[in-house]
Amino acid sequence: MEKVLVLDFGGQYDLLIARRVREQGVYAEIRPYGKTTLEEIKESGYRGIIFTGGPCSVYDETSPHFDKGILDIGVPVLGICYGHQLIAYMAGGVIKSAGNTSEYGRTEVKFGKCTLFDGIPEKSVCWMSHTDFVSEVPGGFAVTAVTEDCPCAAMADEKKKIYGVQFHPEVTHTEYGKQILHSFLFSVCGCSGDWKMDDFIEKTVEKYRVELAGRRVLCALSGGVDSSVAAALMHRAVGDNLTCVFVDHGLLRKNEGDDVERIFRGQFDMNLIRVNAQKRFLDALKGVKEPEKKRKIIGEQFIRVFEEQSRIIGRVDVLVQGTIYPDVVESGKGDASTIKSHHNVGGLPSVIDFDLIVEPLKDLFKDEVRAVGLKLGIPEYLVMRQPFPGPGLAVRLIGEITEEKADTLREADAIFREELESAGIRPSQYFAVLTDTRSVGVMGDARTYGYTVALRAVTTDDFMTADFARIPYEVLESASRRITNEVKSVNRVVYDITSKPPATVEWE
Ligand code: XMP
Repeated sequence: MEKVLVLDFGGQYDLLIARRVREQGVYAEIRPYGKTTLEEIKESGYRGIIFTGGPCSVYDETSPHFDKGILDIGVPVLGICYGHQLIAYMAGGVIKSAGNTSEYGRTEVKFGKCTLFDGIPEKSVCWMSHTDFVSEVPGGFAVTAVTEDCPCAAMADEKKKIYGVQFHPEVTHTEYGKQILHSFLFSVCGCSGDWKMDDFIEKTVEKYRVELAGRRVLCALSGGVDSSVAAALMHRAVGDNLTCVFVDHGLLRKNEGDDVERIFRGQFDMNLIRVNAQKRFLDALKGVKEPEKKRKIIGEQFIRVFEEQSRIIGRVDVLVQGTIYPDVVESGKGDASTIKSHHNVGGLPSVIDFDLIVEPLKDLFKDEVRAVGLKLGIPEYLVMRQPFPGPGLAVRLIGEITEEKADTLREADAIFREELESAGIRPSQYFAVLTDTRSVGVMGDARTYGYTVALRAVTTDDFMTADFARIPYEVLESASRRITNEVKSVNRVVYDITSKPPATVEWE
């Protein structure tokens, strides 16, 4: 199988680059620069290598570097942003700080002659985000693009097939980014583009079939899209050696516990254990108001439950989790800062009683996970379901969590979802939040002092950014009317009109 290496130097774009490469039918493998040797790269038979961007300056003492021999192994290289500067530095060029002419955002770039830019207009808009720039290209290189402020927006040594671009071709704001990557993959690296999602499944199943042969595997199943797909994938790899554990933590949506159990027992022939741990979670969360603390407690309780189950099942040493790429980034990968601890990544307690944690989907975006799920034969209604976070309603119950509040939220949430679905509206994610605010209302002739429910609905492709959904007023109105009529103790409903950023999708 032809493949390209994405050598990761930090920042948040490595998987986006890999995704853009895979979209063109070429398998992209990501490796962190610090855990990869030149020898390994030589032996892996890559068709091309892409250096990612990164947050540093090449002259920083702690900035990531790589063996400069990589430029002489005969494999084409494309450096992006920091990667471009790193190539210049390795090959003997000069990098300078742009000071107050740093470029951020949409910038017009003028292209010269270069294989990467064949067939694109002479000028177009690219996405820039840099402070440093290449002020002198190394010997053998030519400047192939400029901007008003940047004398080297791209460079190339066409003979050695080494290229650098200061802008980001992987982001959609770069008008011809896709074509530029296409030229690198096909014209420069000579790829044929025959990789498909089936290959990911085949490769992953084969990998774990070998690596986990004879081992007992436990999968944390939440019934959500990610863990369902992870379970189906691992089931294909290890069959009956897989046991799925579904923890009902008392913070699931209305009827969800029973639905998940019914679907997984009926639809899939899998070993499934349902653990009713509602009381345990509620006890552990008693009196806790701080969002990160709640997440950590839930993460910890999950793991403890799994450990206990593994002891009951006997000699289970591998834990499978449905972590996907945005979870990894947002929990603070490498130099990216922590936004919130998604419980299945950053919230894990440090001592875990499993030999190995396997996260087969950790390199995929949500839409890719769904595509894998459909290919594995998971029913469409399950795969296309809106995501539901591992900590469940806990991240939608502001302040202290009690059983009564969880019941209130469950009812309000079920009504909102029902109203949207029956109106034929399906944003990417939609749910209710129980705020910790109570306010004065009037019902009949009496004063009430009830909870405020917030409705949240967002549209997004990848959940890294999101826009609030434009729901028709009539639908909001009927949801509001039903919630205040049918849910005891709620007397006010508001609609959240913030996008992400600055907000996040969940409230905690
Ligand atoms: P945020 O709130 O971070 O949510 O904008 C982005 C997406 O991630 C989901 N989410 C989680 N999923 N464990 C999960 O499995 C978590 O702890 C978690 N927190 C948020 C959220 O529902 C949205 O789809």
